[in-house]
This record gives sequence, structure tokens and C-alpha cells, in this order.
Amino acid sequence: MKKQTVVYRCSNCGHTEPKWLGRCPECGQWNTFVENNVATRVAQASAGADAYSLPIVAIDPASGTRLPSGISELDRVLGGGFMRGSAILLGGEPGIGKSTLLLQACAALRSKGRVLYVSGEESPAQIRLRADRVGAIKDNLEVFCSTDLDKIMSVMDSTRPILTVIDSIQTVYTPEAGAVPGTANQIKYNTQNLTEWAKTHDSVIVFVAHVTKDGLIAGPKAAEHIVDAVLAFEQAEGDLRSLRATKNRFGSTDELGLFRMDEDGLHEIVDPSGVLLVKRDGEIPSGIAVAIVYEGSRILLVEIQALTVPAKAGITRVYSDRIDASRVARIAAVMEKQTGLRFSDQDIYINVAGGVRISETGIDLALAAALYSARTGQALPSGAAMAGELSLAGEVRSVRQMAKRARTAQALGFSQVFGPREGPAGEGLAREGLAGEGPTREGLAGEKPIRKAVPSKDPSQKDPKEGQVMDWRAVDSLKAAIRALMGAGKDATPSTLGIRTQSREVT
Ligand code: TYD
Ligand code: MG
Repeated sequence: MKKQTVVYRCSNCGHTEPKWLGRCPECGQWNTFVENNVATRVAQASAGADAYSLPIVAIDPASGTRLPSGISELDRVLGGGFMRGSAILLGGEPGIGKSTLLLQACAALRSKGRVLYVSGEESPAQIRLRADRVGAIKDNLEVFCSTDLDKIMSVMDSTRPILTVIDSIQTVYTPEAGAVPGTANQIKYNTQNLTEWAKTHDSVIVFVAHVTKDGLIAGPKAAEHIVDAVLAFEQAEGDLRSLRATKNRFGSTDELGLFRMDEDGLHEIVDPSGVLLVKRDGEIPSGIAVAIVYEGSRILLVEIQALTVPAKAGITRVYSDRIDASRVARIAAVMEKQTGLRFSDQDIYINVAGGVRISETGIDLALAAALYSARTGQALPSGAAMAGELSLAGEVRSVRQMAKRARTAQALGFSQVFGPREGPAGEGLAREGLAGEGPTREGLAGEKPIRKAVPSKDPSQKDPKEGQVMDWRAVDSLKAAIRALMGAGKDATPSTLGIRTQSREVT
């Protein structure tokens, strides 16, 4: 058989042909075929004459193992560390700390083997200065400053790194994929070739990608399809940074990693439960509710702020970039239906203090409470935290780990927790050591009995405040929740119990 030495690869879609064509039969683009040496190497390895399948029992399971980065916040977002033979894209606005995070990860990587940090943006001296600053001077860390794909790949061939960082993918250039660096063609082509290298060498490759203010990876969306995981590094408030996976073939996309940028690099926030809370003395303003959310595997207490103002010109809008705006609209609609409070003529503004994006459905109840409080001008009781998902019919649906959420809120000094009961007949509560002990007292009108619970003895949990007894109010409808909330901490008066306002009277 004649050995093929040259292939032509479409720089748009990666399709290969044995001879040059004017138009790619795969994607239909014109003049995109380029003679490809790197691809030849890959093509021989992956599509060559020695292609064969393997019996599943003969596959070495160790080849799919993880390399923990040594930074637990990063590892959790990845699903337990870098997966061998995988490619990861780390996106973020310039200056957010992508280079810092990856340099720290390179230095902290616990597995044996060389680590290669390729930079097309900084000089070796600049990288050395940053490494000194964040304590990333390690023997096995190699630095290579170049933007040339062929040079980068030949360094990879000789270094054989277990982890390669390409900072950034937008600077990598090969003459085979068009004239200008940073174009969609260049990025796709380079990402594909570097990813194939990582897969065939059972190593990990991480691409840094700059994103625009709208959160789009500048250049190609297509690079996101090539890699196994896409991480978004975002600025929350001040020096707080959040890390999330928007795509992850080897883990969940629910996990949230939190860091603080400091003089000497990024520091993990190991216990984030209270970092997003706003410290307040005494009364809280109206429009504010505290939600107990379960983001990934951790509980966070977040303050939700709502503002409603009459809409101008008859068109209403929801302004919410931390919580999905369609969820806000849905909760406002449920609220209007259940309580008669008018939201359909209001502009709604929603913010999450601390600036972290929240995706968990357990935030519904607090969102509803914040909206109610904003619309009526009545503040919620301080010391109240809540969790619960709302159905379109206004029922409060159960959320996972309600008891654990309640305990976390209690440990942070919240005296009342509003939420669904957990499991049938409070089974979950009993199991968690929260029910069945201490007196129960009658709830407010129409509300379920209030459980007074003794704190859990679980040593992994934080100790509750000295002598504090948790007041957990199980609510199963939005109406009951609002009634309980507005009546809590003060005498329930008809004006706070009857959910009617001026706007209702007008209509
Ligand atoms: P950098 O990692 O260069 O961001 P990116 O690669 O995403 O563009 O970090 C840039 C910012 O972080 C810069 O404004 C300086 C700041 N910084 C610190 O505050 N402390 C540090 O230890 C380091 C290395 C950077
Ligand atoms: Mg950088």
C-alpha cells in the first residue's frame, strides 16, 4: 500500500482530503484547504493503516484517571481534578486572574511529571516575576514563550508534559490556517491540533481564552465544541472570583468555585457559606431576602435584592443578570396569581449580593419573598433565611438537603428558617436529628406547626450559636410562606396577614 505523506485539511471544519480541493465537501467553505504536516502526523496516528479496536477488558483503566490540580476549588469544578487525555478551555475577561490561576495550578499539581506553561502574551521574565509572587517556583515547571504552533508542538514532543497550559489560544498562530492570528479558523485549527496531541499522549491541555464583556469567547464558539470542559472565570464583588463549568464531559456543571485575589495570588475560599452575606445591624430594608442555596455540593447563604418600579410606556422588563431573568418573570407571575399583588405593570430589578450567579431552583422562595417585600414596602424579619422551589401552582416544593441548609443558616446566626418539610412526615428531619425533640408550638394562622429543634450533634457541622434554638417553619404554599414571613417576629396584624395592597384596590 502506498504510504500517504501529505493530507489537505480544511482550516474551517478540520475535514481532511487526500488532494487539494477548492471547496470543502464537508462545510462548503471555499479556499480553506491547506497542506498539513501536523495533521499528517495526527492522521497517521488516528486514521492510519494500524487502526484497531480493543476488547474492553484490555483497556487500562489508569489511562482515564485524574490528576488533581492541588487547588481544591478548581478540582471540584473540574469534577475531581484534570482528566488525563482531556482538553479544557478557561475563559474570562482580561485581568480576571486566568494566568495566575493556571500558574498556581501548574505549581500545585501533585502528580509526578513535567508541566509546560506556554505563553504568547508574556516574556519568561514576566512569568518568573509572577511565579515568585504566587510561590510557583517548582523544578518540574517549564516555561516556553511562543505563538508558533509548530514550535509549541515540537517543544511538547520533547518535553512530554503531563499538563500543558496555552496562554492564550488567541495568540497561537500557524501559517497553515489563514493569515491572521486570533481568527476563528486559527483558533479552531490550533485547538484541534493541540487537543489531539493531548489525547494521543494521555496528557492534559488547558487553553486560556479571553472573553468579551458579554461572556462570549472572543473568536470561535467552535473551540468550545472541541474541548471536554469549558470553565468560566468571573469577577464577583471586589476581589472575589467565581469559577464555573459551562460544559464538562467528566463532571457536573453545578459546582461553584470561589477564590479571593490577593497580593500573593488567588486563595481558595474553603468555607463559602457566609461570604456572600451582607452584614447588617438591626432592621433590614424592604426588598431583601436571604436564600439558602445548594450550589453544587455546598451550601451558600445569599442575599437577594429586589426592586420594583412602575413601568414606563406600558412595556415591562426584568433586569436580572445573576438569576435567570425568565425565572424571575415566572416567580413574579406566580406571585401575582397567588397574592393578587400586581407585577405585570412593574419593571423588576433583581440582584444577588456578592455578585455570584445562582442557578439552583431552591432560590425560588427567597426570590418570591424579596419581590413581595419590594412591592409592598414591608421589610422581612431580620434573622430569617429560606429555601424552596415554587411550582406554577404556588406550592412550595421540597429541595434537597433542607435540614442541612437549615443547620448552616443557624450556624451563621439566622434564627428562623422557612422552607418545605423534608421527606414524608418529616422523616428526613428525624434522621437529621432535627425533629421530635423540643416543643412544637402552634404556627400562625393557616401555617404548619413550628418545629423547634435541637442542633445536630454531627461533628462535621459547625456549632450553632450558644443556647440558640432553631425555629424552622415548614411551609407548603407560597401564600402560607408569605403569611408566616410577614407575621414572623411581630404580632400578626390583619394588614400583614391579608395579602392585599393599594395596587389591588386600584384594579
Ligand atoms: P492575570 O492572572 O494576569 O489575569 P488574566 O490572565 O486573566 O488577564 O491577573 C491580573 C490581575 O491580577 C492584575 O490586575 C494583577 C492582579 N494580581 C493580584 O492582585 N495578585 C497577584 O498575586 C497577581 C499575580 C495578580
Ligand atoms: Mg493572562
